[in-house]
Amino acid sequence: MWNWLNPEDPIFAIDQVEGEEAQFERMRELWDRNSDHNPLVSSDFFCGGFKEAFERNGERIARYLEAKLDLDAAARVLDLGAGIGRIARYLAEGSERYVLADVSGQMLERARTRVGAGRAELARLVDNRLPWTDASFTHCIAIDVVQHLPERTLRAYFLEVSRLLVPGGRLLLTSGASSGADTPPDPQASRQLLRLLNLKPLPFGARTGPVLAELIADRQLRLREQGDNFPNLLPMLPIQVPFAGSYLLFEKRSDV
Ligand SMILES: C[S@@+](CC[C@H](N)C(=O)[O-])C[C@H]1O[C@@H](n2cnc3c(N)ncnc32)[C@H](O)[C@@H]1O
Repeated sequence: MWNWLNPEDPIFAIDQVEGEEAQFERMRELWDRNSDHNPLVSSDFFCGGFKEAFERNGERIARYLEAKLDLDAAARVLDLGAGIGRIARYLAEGSERYVLADVSGQMLERARTRVGAGRAELARLVDNRLPWTDASFTHCIAIDVVQHLPERTLRAYFLEVSRLLVPGGRLLLTSGASSGADTPPDPQASRQLLRLLNLKPLPFGARTGPVLAELIADRQLRLREQGDNFPNLLPMLPIQVPFAGSYLLFEKRSDV
């Protein structure tokens, strides 16, 4: 059915690519291509007012995160899957350290211009390890990221973030999916939106919901809070869509 207008399914199942190295290559290729002119991740778009809506959204999310995570001048923040710095542009300045990490060099290049040299560090990720020493960060955010990861990477990053956080450190992620064990995310809404906009394929993991449910049950990081009102509006449709609003807030236990 997708072949009618476009030979590629807009939602590419990244779990089907065999091997960690090949998965990273494929993720990089797909996200590099999406760094331009994809209205979900970049501020270039064709309709009037889009850029302003994109920026307002980034700023709104930054203010929300500041309050929710009690970010202050001593914060050391890892922005995992930071993209073009939609949020970092409004969040980086107030912290002691702010690192934008991403698989895509193109995204990071655009972030360099948007966020401003000197205000943040940029790191291109090449495999399932996050290249920092233990307890390097007080906070980690992963906004609109985990639903795009292969299962193996999602599991590995979760352990890595747990290692990188100081005791009491916090991780806030949006899941793009229900975290209920029995309800795997239904990509149909995203698929239709991408088709409608004739966008390039995006990588999606096949089992985000169930894997998150397992990670919560493992209690490597303690789940403090979850909700569905994360203020992530789609810039081209200024409304709250259900798959963009679910978030999970974890805390690193002090006894591990
Ligand atoms: C939907 S965008 C969200 C960007 C940003 N967090 C925001 O909210 O504007 C998803 C981002 O995750 C990045 N990403 C995808 N796979 C990744 C991986 N394995 N490691 C790190 N970043 C990844 C993509 O390159 C892209 O920048």
